[in-house]
Amino acid sequence: MDNSQITHWCHEVIHSQVKEGGRYIDATMGNGNDTLFLCELAGEKGKVTAFDIQEQAVEHTKALLENHGIRENFRLVLDGHEHMAEYEEPGSVDLICFNFGYLPGGDHRIATQPETSIQAIETGLSLLKHGGMMSLCIYSGGDTGFEEKEAILEYLSRLPSKNYTVIVNEYCNRKNHPPVPVFLWKK
Ligand SMILES: C[S@@+](CC[C@H](N)C(=O)[O-])C[C@H]1O[C@@H](n2cnc3c(N)ncnc32)[C@H](O)[C@@H]1O
Repeated sequence: MDNSQITHWCHEVIHSQVKEGGRYIDATMGNGNDTLFLCELAGEKGKVTAFDIQEQAVEHTKALLENHGIRENFRLVLDGHEHMAEYEEPGSVDLICFNFGYLPGGDHRIATQPETSIQAIETGLSLLKHGGMMSLCIYSGGDTGFEEKEAILEYLSRLPSKNYTVIVNEYCNRKNHPPVPVFLWKK
């Protein structure tokens, strides 16, 4: 595997920043790779709540976790991430992971949308503990277009620096609209 690939890079940064055994949210479950990573990081003492709007994503994730012997420390929710406040308490979450776009291998027309993505980020900020972190993988071009990336980056750039640190990474020598990894900390 290419260690600089976006999801791998995000996992590396999360692993270096977030303590094990915490409370984590996977805001975009998809095929479950991030959920699996977070369940392993959470261990027996931690808890992962994962969201997706597609039943296919929940089924894939359930199977992936089962195949890896993970049975207890997660909750898979068939609901939009914009509703995550219905499932977690304000100020209680250590990490929220977003991986925007469409389900790989699924219908590309069912994808995250700028308005609900920003609602979910905003809600996520209220759920994060002080010292908690958000990781965001943002895609553009092709079927995804550019609207969501622009809207999210614009929203993040307006967050007050006294409350949040936001680091936007760039694959600066990669052509064809490379993905953008972003990391945010709530002070
Ligand atoms: C790029 S995939 C996620 C990849 C996934 N994290 C993995 O490890 O395989 C994006 C997912 O976001 C989901 N999605 C789209 N809109 C959503 C919403 N409002 N709330 C939660 N998930 C949503 C899509 O159904 C899709 O499965």
